[in-house]
Amino acid sequence: MAAAAIHGTDSRAVDAACELLRTGDLVAMPTETVYGLAADALNESAVRKIFAVKGRPLIDPLIIHVADRSMLESLALTHETADRLADAFWPGPLTLVLPKRPHVPDLVTAGRPTVAVRMPSHPLFREVLLRSGLALAAPSANPFGYVSPTRARHVRDSFGEKVPHILDGGPCAIGLESTIVDCSRPDAPPRILRTGPIDADALARILGHRPPVANTAASGEAGGLEAPGMLSRHYSPAVPLRLTAYGSQDLIPPAQGEAVVCFKKPTELVCRSENVFWLTESGDTNEAARNLFHLLRTLDTMAWKRVTVECAPEEGIGAALNDRLRRAAAK
Ligand code: TXA
Ligand code: MG
Repeated sequence: MAAAAIHGTDSRAVDAACELLRTGDLVAMPTETVYGLAADALNESAVRKIFAVKGRPLIDPLIIHVADRSMLESLALTHETADRLADAFWPGPLTLVLPKRPHVPDLVTAGRPTVAVRMPSHPLFREVLLRSGLALAAPSANPFGYVSPTRARHVRDSFGEKVPHILDGGPCAIGLESTIVDCSRPDAPPRILRTGPIDADALARILGHRPPVANTAASGEAGGLEAPGMLSRHYSPAVPLRLTAYGSQDLIPPAQGEAVVCFKKPTELVCRSENVFWLTESGDTNEAARNLFHLLRTLDTMAWKRVTVECAPEEGIGAALNDRLRRAAAK
């Protein structure tokens, strides 16, 4: 079997990707959040391949990516509040959960009456959406439960020849998965199902009130009614993680065989130690978010017995970063 090929962004690679998608195959490609593993959302046998390659349980529904609002309307029943959120944040890292139209396959929505839809802003993903004319189901392109990919190489490292066609759009600009907002009941206020790059304050500016965060980890297992993919343990590297609060002083020096990840690059002397890492050089939370998954994957190749990670300040994208860290560290 041919080894996975990482393609550039030239017209031929995009055409080849569109052809594969039209004929029911999978293509991995970047979004602004993380790399996705895409298939024609309305082709059940194509969608089935996503679940098989990822080892994803069939009860965990997929997000459908759309090129424009008419594609949204063809898949879901929208309403005024959802339209306002889409006006404000699309294209971008916001996923809306809405009542689905009947022809959306049950496989995509895991038998639910709702469908999750988002319009990504990454130019390469948008080009494939526009040129193929397809609505694309795409989960993060990682084995189920593992750390999401933010570079083309991450996809190849995880899947090898199981995902032969990967479009390389460089490192993802955001680095954490989209915010998911449940708008499935037009008569009830929207709720955040997954914290993400668009934080509660940004949503509140559009909605006029701060949306509550649904307690999706409460059941702690897949199949919970709210958001089946929101497991308390997820995004997890193989190496055990321990978290410490932002600004806590008990990070350094690490014990033998253990590493620490500081939020911000520490003083010159300390940062020269081989078991000290950091998420951001300047203290910028967006930079930290962009680096998180790559650093977790790198640490996994280094055989540490344990890694202690300092959380981010709980503001802006820091809340989502800390959510991913808590799930990555959960037993
Ligand atoms: O940024 C992102 O959203 C990335 C990129 C590739 O777009 N995609 C992504 O997909 O993170 P995935 O499959 O890794 O996570 C999607 C989450 C899952 O936790 C799933 O349970 C939830 O969305 N979801 C999908 N459809 C849903 C629905 N109808 N109701 C509630 N939750 C849903
Ligand atoms: Mg995922």
